[in-house]
Amino acid sequence: METIDKLIEAHSGKFGPSGKLRVFACPGRINLIGEHIDYNGGHVLPAAVDKSIYLVITPNDRKSFRFFSTAFGNVNEISINDLYKTSPANNNWWIYPAGVIRTLAEDEWPLEHGYDMSFASTIPVGSGMSSSAALTEVVVFALSTLLKIHLTLPHMAALGQRIETEFAGVSCGIMDQFAVVTGKRNCAVMLNTKNLEYEYVKVDSNVVHWILVNSMVKHSLKDSGYNERRSDCETSVEKLNKCGFNRKYICDFTMEEFEKNKEVLIEREQKRVYHAITEESRTVQFEKLMKRGDYESAGKLLTGSHESLRDNYEVSIPELDKMVEWAMSIEGVLGSRMMGGGFGGCTINMVKKENVSAFKEIISDKFRKEFRKETEIYDCVIGDGVREIIL
Ligand code: GLA
Repeated sequence: METIDKLIEAHSGKFGPSGKLRVFACPGRINLIGEHIDYNGGHVLPAAVDKSIYLVITPNDRKSFRFFSTAFGNVNEISINDLYKTSPANNNWWIYPAGVIRTLAEDEWPLEHGYDMSFASTIPVGSGMSSSAALTEVVVFALSTLLKIHLTLPHMAALGQRIETEFAGVSCGIMDQFAVVTGKRNCAVMLNTKNLEYEYVKVDSNVVHWILVNSMVKHSLKDSGYNERRSDCETSVEKLNKCGFNRKYICDFTMEEFEKNKEVLIEREQKRVYHAITEESRTVQFEKLMKRGDYESAGKLLTGSHESLRDNYEVSIPELDKMVEWAMSIEGVLGSRMMGGGFGGCTINMVKKENVSAFKEIISDKFRKEFRKETEIYDCVIGDGVREIIL
């Protein structure tokens, strides 16, 4: 509540008091397993966390939108006319809300007046918990609520994904946006990215905790090899289809089909496909084991996922590899892997509840000794998805 109170105060300070003030929140996400297959037609198992981006919004009587963030301090204003000049080249944080406004306006909303928006975040910057998806979706949710535009949760997620691609220049999958809109307390979301069907999987925090350890290496999907990975996958599907298939995604191929036809792919593509097919089977298996309460076996799949991301998909970095190695030598750690797009960010660790404090202490100690700096550790509480906060 403290973050919200302060944000309301800041908003009134910047834009003047208004009786029509509304408050919305959208969480960040973690991903238990299913990495780099949300654009390959696979299953993913993310969850929303209890850290969010908060938005205070009021209508204004100008022909413009104004954006303020407690993290950056200044107010940015964009007129309705200039909205159409925003592009990924505008490397500003407010490209996301501006992108939402423009996309909604193009699709279904005649812009008559603007809104003032103030943002505050409790999602740690650069942690890989998808603050950009949260920033986008909080605006999608707020404006569709205020303007009574009916959007289903999968629609909201798809809209956010489109905005990230068009305005931030990242051809991301749909996992992050989907997780932050559909998230539910104490549940992970098993999402089939091929048809957007999803199911909640209970995650019992009395048994294991999900602990993120930050490599403190900042990553930007736009400048990393993310888009290259995606295009390698698309090329691979095209090449495999020339062997008599008509498939849309890598995850539509079985391991046997891939093995029989892999010679049409160059070595790098073979590795990418191998990762996607095996990650899909790990994810499906993981969900079954979690439902059965077999956390020990589930944990092993996490470590398998890391090895494949490191060796086949080649999106890990030495810092993350070290952190996984350390984690696996600590008592009570059932599994550990890099999380998200890679090239930096966090590892996610599945740790038995009774070993959590020792784990945190040992891993931060090792980190300090090896890298001569402090890490940040987040013991994640799985929370609800995007919502309005009724004051
Ligand atoms: C980033 C993207 C997601 C997904 C992950 C890797 O977080 O935004 O769509 O592809 O990387 O699993």
